[in-house]
Amino acid sequence: MMFVNGVSHHLLFILGLLLLAFHANSSSVERSTYIVHMDKSLMPKTFSSHQHWFSSIIHSLKSRTTTSSLDGHSFSPYLLYSYDNVAHGFSAFLSKEELETLKKSPGFISAYKDKYVTLDTTHTIEFLSLNPTSGLWPASNYGDDVIVGVIDTGIWPESDSFQANNLSSFPARWKGECEDGQDFNSSMCNWKLIGARYFNKGVIAANPGVNISMNSARDTMGHGTHTSSTAGGNYVDDASFYGYASGTARGIAPRARLAMYKVIFDEGRYASDVLAGMDKAVDDGVDIISISMGFDEVPLYEDPIAIASFAAMEKGVVVSSSAGNAGPALGTLHNGIPWVMTVAAGTIDRSFAGNLILGNGETIIGWTMFPASAYLDDMRLIYNKTYSACNSTKLLRKVPSDAIIFCDKNGFLYDQVDAISGTNVRGAIFVSDREESFEMGTNWPGVVISSKDAPVVINYATTDKRPSATIKFQQTILGTKPAPAVALYTSRGPSPYFPGILKPDIMAPGSQVLASWIPTDPTARIGPNVYLSSEFNVISGTSMACPHASGVAALLRGAHWDWSPAAIKSALVTTANPLDNTQNPIRDNGLNFTSASPLAMGAGQIDPNKALDPGLIYDATPQDYVNLLCSMNYTQNQIQIITRSKNYNCSNPNADLNYPSFIALYNDNTTSFVQTFQRTVTNVGEGAATYKARLSAPEGSEVEVSPETLVFGKKYEKQSYELTIKYTKNKDDEHKVSFGELVWIEDNGNHTVRSPIAVSPLVIDSGF
Ligand SMILES: *[C@@H]1O[C@H](CO)[C@@H](O)[C@H](O)[C@H]1NC(C)=O
Ligand SMILES: *[C@@H]1O[C@H](CO)[C@@H](O)[C@H](O)[C@H]1NC(C)=O
Ligand SMILES: *[C@@H]1O[C@H](CO)[C@@H](O)[C@H](O)[C@H]1NC(C)=O
Ligand SMILES: *[C@@H]1O[C@H](CO)[C@@H](O)[C@H](O)[C@H]1NC(C)=O
Ligand SMILES: *[C@@H]1O[C@H](CO)[C@@H](O)[C@H](O)[C@H]1NC(C)=O
Ligand SMILES: *[C@@H]1O[C@H](CO)[C@@H](O)[C@H](O)[C@H]1NC(C)=O
Ligand SMILES: *[C@@H]1O[C@H](CO)[C@@H](O)[C@H](O)[C@H]1NC(C)=O
Ligand SMILES: *[C@@H]1O[C@H](CO)[C@@H](O)[C@H](O)[C@H]1NC(C)=O
Ligand SMILES: *[C@@H]1O[C@H](CO)[C@@H](O)[C@H](O)[C@H]1NC(C)=O
Ligand SMILES: *[C@@H]1O[C@H](CO)[C@@H](O)[C@H](O)[C@H]1NC(C)=O
Repeated sequence: MMFVNGVSHHLLFILGLLLLAFHANSSSVERSTYIVHMDKSLMPKTFSSHQHWFSSIIHSLKSRTTTSSLDGHSFSPYLLYSYDNVAHGFSAFLSKEELETLKKSPGFISAYKDKYVTLDTTHTIEFLSLNPTSGLWPASNYGDDVIVGVIDTGIWPESDSFQANNLSSFPARWKGECEDGQDFNSSMCNWKLIGARYFNKGVIAANPGVNISMNSARDTMGHGTHTSSTAGGNYVDDASFYGYASGTARGIAPRARLAMYKVIFDEGRYASDVLAGMDKAVDDGVDIISISMGFDEVPLYEDPIAIASFAAMEKGVVVSSSAGNAGPALGTLHNGIPWVMTVAAGTIDRSFAGNLILGNGETIIGWTMFPASAYLDDMRLIYNKTYSACNSTKLLRKVPSDAIIFCDKNGFLYDQVDAISGTNVRGAIFVSDREESFEMGTNWPGVVISSKDAPVVINYATTDKRPSATIKFQQTILGTKPAPAVALYTSRGPSPYFPGILKPDIMAPGSQVLASWIPTDPTARIGPNVYLSSEFNVISGTSMACPHASGVAALLRGAHWDWSPAAIKSALVTTANPLDNTQNPIRDNGLNFTSASPLAMGAGQIDPNKALDPGLIYDATPQDYVNLLCSMNYTQNQIQIITRSKNYNCSNPNADLNYPSFIALYNDNTTSFVQTFQRTVTNVGEGAATYKARLSAPEGSEVEVSPETLVFGKKYEKQSYELTIKYTKNKDDEHKVSFGELVWIEDNGNHTVRSPIAVSPLVIDSGF
């Protein structure tokens, strides 16, 4: 094996030199990767398969390429992938001229350049109330037999989270594979990790001659290991992050089966590879796709995730995706795709704490993730204006070496940390109220306190004759209140390219999530050059929120095999909790801690056990989504890219999708409008039921619902209603989001079915 690797690398190296030489000498034709959508129904009958057809098209382009147009990247056009399941078409490495020729081929629909994908990173179980004796865990047998496909950076198969323990065999319908590759062989999969594949032809095409540093499904970044273990990791006892958050770690669906589709490499991350991964996942037979990444600023018909997830939805596969980390501004969200579940990130009720104990006995709880139990016991406490700005390494060198210093709140915390890093300061106290400070991993002993506690410390340090302090690290505080809150960074709706559907759908824990990590990437540092590795890491992002929702979707799939992806999403949306653990509306850390709007958190925090039994669901069929697409000003080709067939039925365009939430948009010139929504709900409760509406109108709007009572005679019966929003512009409305809710309450109180209502400015002109 080593020999083979050596040879191929050597060859690559020589090839690289050759290519460089050509590049220097020829007036080269630039080639790039294009994703090409084709109409399969127009395949000439002479071809036995569409792969054959696509290769032949590329081959015919090749024969037109004369020697004088040899280019610096590749000697001729070539085919990267043929997409068979979630898209009809292929990706190919082409010059502009070759693309023009290709466009004349029968069956050509559209082509666009390959693009970069954005990865969404920067004791959750108890917080979500999952419990072994009742509710969703036992009802779904912990997700046993449900297959979660994770599209990500790869996986570390040796991690304890991916051991098979008490699992036996896997679902017979599984067609996936555990592919051999660098440092990865097929024996590394088991009954937990049942598949692992990797896709990097797009990376290689974009970087000719590149040496893929880990040419297999093995994770080199940690992200994929983290998300996979969050969604479906097995039980691992005694997990912790350097003594913080210690306990038993396990995924949301601990018996679900995982399959990794690695599409992100250190050398690049391309749409062509993402599409290939999703194409294979659907073909392999996954039930859930968890994808913590997204494409920014693309319409649905050029967004590989939107395209692939449409076919996935048709096959009953739930696609759960991250909203992005571009908040808190409105209109920053990606994956705002009607047939996908879009997940926002919230904080959790756990803090990684350091206790600051002053010499007078007063104790203040601060935040820290310093990765050891540093000994800072009864040290001198200094508050000295000479260096308390803590932004000058030169001044900080004057700090006595046996002291803890107090740093004033001053600009960016990270700049202060930077300045102190180069000094002998033994310990420091910082002041910040910003969310990202709470997870600050300092490489020397420091603690962050809130500005409300700062005066206590300053007062003591400046009035006591011999002020002193102790800092205790590795403290974990549970039950932090209020929690959850909307994370500062989580991207906000409306979805720029599809604003008419309320996005995100729901919120899940995304901040400071503990999950498995790779041993080859340090998770902490002490001093300038001691790097530490850990089997677990604590990181934040909508990337971490998404797999929580994917795990719950897997449990719901396991409990209700007959539900459509729309039904599963509806159950999660209508049972989500808009209140925090103080029973007040969830607050938005990105909006000065005011009540969060549905454009930040969707319907609220997921509530898995309630989602098991939602009472009513808002279902949607593939045809409903087609009707939605037909209502957009898309061309026939643009729609066909998504539906993969010309035979979609556009006779009933309808922008009013049967969605479990409501959004009405106004622009700068709107003075008033009336918008009516039609909805149909299906009774999935046991037997007859009567529901009554309770409305809370967004400020400045009037809302009516008709009828106000829904009576169901039996299970699976459907009833329809109409909701009308009457909006009149107020002078103060400029770019202001207002919101309310419609709640259907069952007469016996067994079920409440809640839909958020948002009235929002159309922030982004999406160009329809
Ligand atoms: C490619 O990377 C591997 C692993 O880092 C290294 O052993 C090999 O020498 C590299 N080959 C080339 C051609 O750079
Ligand atoms: C699976 O095994 C682990 C120990 O490896 C155990 O803690 C856990 O309770 C088991 N779970 C189930 C559902 O059997
Ligand atoms: C795969 O890895 C296992 C464990 O490292 C090893 O025992 C086995 O021989 C390898 N198989 C192949 C085909 O390389
Ligand atoms: C450090 O902070 C002080 C107080 O805010 C400010 O006046 C000074 O300009 C800052 N110095 C640097 C180098 O940023
Ligand atoms: C503050 O630090 C400076 C520089 O080390 C020192 O000269 C000064 O005396 C200190 N001030 C107090 C009040 O200790
Ligand atoms: C945030 O809220 C505080 C207290 O209500 C207020 O004083 C401050 O001006 C607000 N800041 C912003 C940016 O809205
Ligand atoms: C589509 O175009 C028509 C006519 O230009 C316009 O009235 C309509 O609002 C557009 N629809 C959307 C969804 O943009
Ligand atoms: C299209 O759908 C409508 C109902 O929305 C139906 O009446 C019509 O027959 C369908 N047309 C085709 C060609 O299937
Ligand atoms: C608002 O009206 C002005 C003047 O008629 C027009 O230029 C502008 O494009 C309109 N804005 C929107 C968002 O429709
Ligand atoms: C629903 O309410 C009825 C009373 O109307 C009660 O008998 C039944 O146990 C409730 N079911 C559940 C699942 O709570």
